[in-house]
Amino acid sequence: MSYTWRERASVASLPAELLLLILKNVYVQTRQGLITIRTHDWCTGPLCKPNEPYLTKWNDKNDLKSPSVFPYALSSICKAWFDVMLLVPKFWTRLVIFVDNQPTAIAELRSQLSASRDLPFRAHIFNRQDAICQDTAESAQVKAVVNELSPHLHRCERLTFDVIHNSSLPSVRHTFSGSFPLLTELSMRCRIHDEPEELDSQGEEGRDPFLFPNLTSISLTGSAFVDANKNPDWGMGGNVRLFSLSHLSSFENPNLTLTGLVHILNKFHRISSLELKHIDLPYSPNEQVPRGSQLRVHFGRILLEGFKRATFEAFSKLVGGADCESQTIRACEIAGDINDTDFLTLEDIHSTEDLLSVIPTLSNRLLTFTSCSGLNDTCLGLLSKPNPRTGLWNAQTLRNLNISGCPRISVGALKELVESRKVEATARGYETNPHYDDFDEIMPIGSLDVYGCGLDLSLEDAQWFEENVENFYFRS
Ligand SMILES: *[C@@H]1O[C@H](CO)[C@@H](O)[C@H](O)[C@H]1NC(C)=O
Ligand SMILES: *[C@@H]1O[C@H](CO)[C@@H](O)[C@H](O)[C@H]1NC(C)=O
Ligand SMILES: *[C@@H]1O[C@H](CO)[C@@H](O)[C@H](O)[C@H]1NC(C)=O
Ligand SMILES: *[C@@H]1O[C@H](CO)[C@@H](O)[C@H](O)[C@H]1NC(C)=O
Ligand SMILES: *[C@@H]1O[C@H](CO)[C@@H](O)[C@H](O)[C@H]1NC(C)=O
Ligand SMILES: *[C@@H]1O[C@H](CO)[C@@H](O)[C@H](O)[C@H]1NC(C)=O
Repeated sequence: MSYTWRERASVASLPAELLLLILKNVYVQTRQGLITIRTHDWCTGPLCKPNEPYLTKWNDKNDLKSPSVFPYALSSICKAWFDVMLLVPKFWTRLVIFVDNQPTAIAELRSQLSASRDLPFRAHIFNRQDAICQDTAESAQVKAVVNELSPHLHRCERLTFDVIHNSSLPSVRHTFSGSFPLLTELSMRCRIHDEPEELDSQGEEGRDPFLFPNLTSISLTGSAFVDANKNPDWGMGGNVRLFSLSHLSSFENPNLTLTGLVHILNKFHRISSLELKHIDLPYSPNEQVPRGSQLRVHFGRILLEGFKRATFEAFSKLVGGADCESQTIRACEIAGDINDTDFLTLEDIHSTEDLLSVIPTLSNRLLTFTSCSGLNDTCLGLLSKPNPRTGLWNAQTLRNLNISGCPRISVGALKELVESRKVEATARGYETNPHYDDFDEIMPIGSLDVYGCGLDLSLEDAQWFEENVENFYFRS
């Protein structure tokens, strides 16, 4: 249906009260319900479904970069609508700010911030350009935005930057001072780690301490992390669930070593998810630090990405054997023992990496190989018979195997793996001996997922796997 003059006129001439009512309904509908108790107090009349959740929050699944995101799609219809919407503080508690070739006007941002009054808010700063390219205006735009946000940061709950250049990211140390109990998420991400600019023109002098007692999620680039650490009096509370660092090398701080990083991590009790990407720090075995099972910090999940061999090996020495449930190793050069976690994912491991010497060190229950072009039948063979040197089975407690995007394996080798482990388990008393130790003894493969490996499965093979594996999932 196309707009006619009359329809447009009728929309623009809606009385403000009616317009507000409609807009408030849209606001409630775009949000996510927390608990269904009674109708939202803003939701009245025939537009409301009964039992609409009363307590709502911003929907984290919204695509914030989409032009249809609330409130911007509506506030940009005309000046009159924008002005009416500024009357409702709650509309402006999720700010999406663009720093690209169609930047958010600073004057508009200022109106939105003041419209939100004293309510807690979140701010998400994006550069929407997809292409990896230079954006020479970005840094100044981010600076202007941060300037505008600064006086309001004490009521900020989430602050995220997703920009092109690391040099555009603000200095944590110069942006925050004091305690920010509302802040739960601080994220500074960038796509290009450019050459260093002139070093920190804002001076190295001591700054006020800053504290994020309620932080649950922090993602920093290496340079932002080093910058924050220049103030020894900064801290996070004990609730950090995601701790993510990317592109940290001794270039940012010649004094920082891998041991120093482990010291910092060990200040926490628990980090549910630790992500370390492209970390390249020197390691000196003589430095004293608790390691392995002596570490007080517990990890739910560790993701390592883009590690060079020496760093990978050193990190395994320091953290291997620590309390950790699940590990993902992505696009790393691997070496040495990969320590015991229940779940292990090897992803994007280059075909030149020596899986044949890694596999015998594995001892995981759930093993996932994703896009490991070096995984071939010889590798699977190592999981299909005892290690001739030790007589023990590699990955003895393996139960679930998940292989995707690995083009060099065959159906025959998979069958061999399933069959040999089943035969061995049966021979040892699985399902016949009531005292069989399902936890430490070899077990038949319970779940096998294979897809994207370019395999053809005959009908007979498919039936064979169905009969011999409890949960079999296959897609070529
Ligand atoms: C950006 O990242 C690079 C590479 O990690 C680093 O050398 C440089 O110091 C960073 N620049 C700034 C301004 O933070
Ligand atoms: C931390 O945040 C939660 C909700 O996100 C809030 O209930 C709690 O009061 C905050 N704690 C502090 C110390 O502000
Ligand atoms: C490195 O350590 C030396 C000596 O302890 C100190 O003088 C220097 O400021 C440190 N450099 C950085 C970047 O922290
Ligand atoms: C972890 O690896 C270290 C050596 O890299 C080894 O001494 C230790 O036994 C391993 N721990 C586990 C639980 O496999
Ligand atoms: C599997 O790859 C290894 C090298 O990673 C090689 O030595 C071996 O011959 C390959 N096996 C097969 C069956 O291609
Ligand atoms: C196997 O891996 C894929 C992608 O890594 C994941 O989506 C799937 O849930 C995994 N399957 C199991 C059984 O873990």
